[in-house]
Amino acid sequence: MAKAKTVFFCNECGQESPKWLGQCPGCKEWNTFVEEKITPIKVKQHNIGLERNEPKKLSDIHMLDDKRITTGINELDRVLGGGIVIGSLVLVGGDPGIGKSTLLLQMCKSLADNNKKVLYISGEESLKQIKIRAERLNVNGNNLLLLCETNLTNIEEIVKKDIPDVMIIDSIQTMFKEDISSAPGSVSQVREVTNILMQLAKGLNISTFIVGHVTKDGSIAGPRVLEHMVDTVLYFEGDRHASYRILRGVKNRYGSTNEIGVFEMRDKGLVEVSNPSELMLTGRPTGVSGSVVSCSLEGTRPMLVEVQALISQTNFGMPRRTATGTDYNRVVLLMAVLEKRLGMQLASCDAYVNIAGGIKINEPALDLGIIMSIASSFKNQPINSRTLVFGEVGLTGEVRAVNMAEQRVIEASKLGFDTCIIPKANMKNLKIPKEVKVFGVENVNEALGLCR
Ligand code: TYD
Ligand code: MG
Repeated sequence: MAKAKTVFFCNECGQESPKWLGQCPGCKEWNTFVEEKITPIKVKQHNIGLERNEPKKLSDIHMLDDKRITTGINELDRVLGGGIVIGSLVLVGGDPGIGKSTLLLQMCKSLADNNKKVLYISGEESLKQIKIRAERLNVNGNNLLLLCETNLTNIEEIVKKDIPDVMIIDSIQTMFKEDISSAPGSVSQVREVTNILMQLAKGLNISTFIVGHVTKDGSIAGPRVLEHMVDTVLYFEGDRHASYRILRGVKNRYGSTNEIGVFEMRDKGLVEVSNPSELMLTGRPTGVSGSVVSCSLEGTRPMLVEVQALISQTNFGMPRRTATGTDYNRVVLLMAVLEKRLGMQLASCDAYVNIAGGIKINEPALDLGIIMSIASSFKNQPINSRTLVFGEVGLTGEVRAVNMAEQRVIEASKLGFDTCIIPKANMKNLKIPKEVKVFGVENVNEALGLCR
């Protein structure tokens, strides 16, 4: 047997190094290197596809793409780019307890109801535990097979014997291959297991979903290690204290990546939220300064959010600035624009900017909303609660065009907004409902003038 060798892996991105490093040169994270023993094994050719591999003409390759399987959950379908592509490998990442197993089990339910053969492999929970959850979610069905297994060799055997249409691996960090000496969840195990799963998926046309926990403590490898190996990466995120969850497409070989799906966690499982704007705006105060509604575009869907700002006199020499849900540096930059171009004395003020609802948005179209909320709080002048504001703000205080302005205005009109302040450059060829008054502005000063 070849001599065992020790190497160091970054838990975040899988970078390999012969010696321990404090900072990973790949992803620049600190303290992520862990030691792993690897026994060099003879590389076996996994040839699961039954035919021999030979070059093929592009025109001879038959498209499977048009045969997407719809999951029955619209929000999930949209994030996947219109359904599950046959033979694709999808990674679903997220913090433990966020609802990944729940989402996938619900997906299994509707797939099984549509006569798809589904195999749910769990390495985390016993069959009984899954059954309890399934009863809670009202899942039953003869097409849904459950398996508690962590050894990949056994899984491979079972899958090859009875090929499912869709397979769920919950989670990748519990699966192991015996040939590799390191513990389940280590970088080399996670990589090798994913590699085999990929061959199974492509060779036998099984659409595979892999659950990956995101961890910071470093004992198990994070999903970033395998991001580059899979076709689609989805992250399930949300505030633990809030009930809604957002499924975000980070990488997608078969569709757009900016799409999000919004769900709400109830006692009977996840429920789709088809109108997230309404959810984001619930409980919004009216007639107070520092609150303004802006519109962000997530993929192809506009979403209204409330931007809040609180400006108060500072008690310290160094004013405090915080930004929750948006980029801190952007807020500081926008405050500098207000100070320089509009002469607002913000240097002696603390500023707190928050996107209500706990959602994170980094779209430049929110700039004008942030500026207006800061100005509104500074002057203590409320902005009409039925006014929508969006536009990118440049360093000279100019308001620049954003994409898909029309959709944003239409979304606002659906929710009863009657005034929109938008970039002037977006006014050309704008087809919008008659009920909405739209003002095009060229710079921040003009926008603030409209609210006086
Ligand atoms: P789970 O899917 O087990 O999370 P993950 O697989 O990402 O680790 O979700 C567990 C959480 O969801 C748990 O805190 C309880 C909550 N939950 C509900 O609120 N309602 C439900 O119907 C279910 C099944 C779970
Ligand atoms: Mg789980």
